[in-house]
Amino acid sequence: MSKEKKNIKKFRGEVSRQNREYRNKHRAAVFWFTGLSGSGKSTIAHAVEKELFDSMMRVYVFDGDNVRHGLCADLSFSPTARTENIRRIAEVSKLFVENSTVCLCAFISPLLSDRQMARDVIGENDFYEIFITCPLAICEDRDVKGYYKLAREGKIKNYTGISAPYEVPEHPDLIVETDKETLEESVARVKEFILEKVKL
Ligand code: ADX
Repeated sequence: MSKEKKNIKKFRGEVSRQNREYRNKHRAAVFWFTGLSGSGKSTIAHAVEKELFDSMMRVYVFDGDNVRHGLCADLSFSPTARTENIRRIAEVSKLFVENSTVCLCAFISPLLSDRQMARDVIGENDFYEIFITCPLAICEDRDVKGYYKLAREGKIKNYTGISAPYEVPEHPDLIVETDKETLEESVARVKEFILEKVKL
């Protein structure tokens, strides 16, 4: 049903996004980290968040492992549930951008179409895709949560990289190869990229 049919109009408040951005001394945007489980998305996003926070920026990490305990607790890992997971995060992070927050979204988000949907929801000018990449064999070897082993044993279904697809980004804004550089190097590169994009 269209918004008109539901008799809902947008209310424009007196405090604009621009007002908030000037107060914070930086722009807001969404930096969307995509990659296999174990590639380093959350680790890098949280380390970058800490550094940006310490330099007085308004910044927040959305992370699959946290969001799926609350906002998306009802969702499985079926293709339709993953799409809904990404849709909700995109809508919430869009509100955070309106509030002038730099959003670091760390989700496997394995499908090109879902990431395109997130880009469409958030808007081309506010969306940057960061591809955190690492060969599957290394992610599997790291197996931080022990889930790859369970997936290989068939005890977890639809596991990305094992029994569910991961579609590599076609034109990511930044590529971070976590098997080729240290965490410190990756964090520094991502931070530099973000600072450039949120300059007023
Ligand atoms: S997404 O595909 O919908 O974007 P999301 O980033 O929210 O995934 O959650 C991924 C995390 O959920 C993984 O890091 C892993 O810990 C856990 N997980 C549990 N089951 C699966 C599964 N079938 N596929 C991928 N990750 C899973």
